[in-house]
Amino acid sequence: MDITKLRKDTPGTTKVLHFNNAGAALMPAPVVNAMTDYLDEETLYGGYETMMSQSSQLMAFYAEAAKMLHCTPGEIAFTDSATTAWQRAFFSIPWQNGDNIITGNAEYASNYISLLRLQELFDIEVRVVPDNIYGETDPKALEQLIDKNTRLIAITHMPTSGGLVNPIEEIGRLANKHGVLYLVDACQSVGHCPLDVRTIGCDFLTGTGRKYLRGPRGTGLLYVRHEIIEKLSPLSLDLYSAQWTGPNTYKTRKNALKFENFESNLAAKAGLAAAIRYQNNLGIDKTWKRIQELANLLRKKLNEIPGLQVTDNGKVLSGIVTFTHKNYSAKDIKVHLDKQHINVTIVPLANSRLHMEKMGMEEVVRASVHYYNTEEEISRFCEVIPY
Ligand SMILES: Cc1ncc(COP(=O)(O)O)c(C=O)c1O
Repeated sequence: MDITKLRKDTPGTTKVLHFNNAGAALMPAPVVNAMTDYLDEETLYGGYETMMSQSSQLMAFYAEAAKMLHCTPGEIAFTDSATTAWQRAFFSIPWQNGDNIITGNAEYASNYISLLRLQELFDIEVRVVPDNIYGETDPKALEQLIDKNTRLIAITHMPTSGGLVNPIEEIGRLANKHGVLYLVDACQSVGHCPLDVRTIGCDFLTGTGRKYLRGPRGTGLLYVRHEIIEKLSPLSLDLYSAQWTGPNTYKTRKNALKFENFESNLAAKAGLAAAIRYQNNLGIDKTWKRIQELANLLRKKLNEIPGLQVTDNGKVLSGIVTFTHKNYSAKDIKVHLDKQHINVTIVPLANSRLHMEKMGMEEVVRASVHYYNTEEEISRFCEVIPY
């Protein structure tokens, strides 16, 4: 990969050492240009008029997302975040008292809060799968929790709080074998590693724009398997996802647009289309390999620092690197790094409660690398960590 060129495309690399890609990655120029072009046109010609004239750029979002996930454009919906995508999917399921949901320790806080919210509305049991020896959601233990009342398996692919990569394909085979709906939170993994919804065997997959896809904030996407769209009833229907056909009737769309609403940030949608195209053109196999190499190098060098403990677990590790320090709090480290224009984030217990409680951690520093980071940045980063 031509890292020099990729960094030239990324103005932020001249200003900061950015290891907060799992928060929001630095946007490359084509993404920003797509958005400013869109806004310039809106400024001069009007919002509805620009929506028409830029319709091919907006439609490209569906084509590029479908190419990335190996599905059809009609199975993709645009949302304003991964959480919105997840909730639209989750609350469209026809829940009944007595249903149970299977999830894992890595589940993201917002998803888990929705599980708790659902329990206020229905008599639903939540079953949490124990981890295997690698720290992954254990597929064997998961299968034992499935029974005739299991309505959904909801799994986070890569958690917010560590380098784990959950075995979503193996879990998908079990979901399909037992005929259970399967929802994958791929918020941290879209644009990060290869994703093929047919191989995963999921019914829903959710992602965000701003993280490894390098798109703008306020964007997300939802994949819904074509065969199940008709059986689902989103709570947030409007005049776009449905049509008011008579005073007391409406009919919903037949594709994943059923999960969208009319009003959205179209400049950001154009930006997300550009971001996914950028990633598709680079090739996910190449970028995933580089991310893993950089993250492994970072883990190796961090492990050499006295008092520091890398806290990632899993058989396969992602670009998300987390650590604690015997002598300094996560906040101390972040403040110290901020002063040197080095970006990391702190993940508190409440963002990933089950996983972090199990690991005995109150908070971790998260340094997440992307393909445009460099080996030199890793060396500099490790040199300035206090010990
Ligand atoms: C694993 C995971 N799922 C979901 C989300 C929520 O994404 P969004 O903020 O786009 O709703 C995050 C955000 O950090 C995340 O890490």
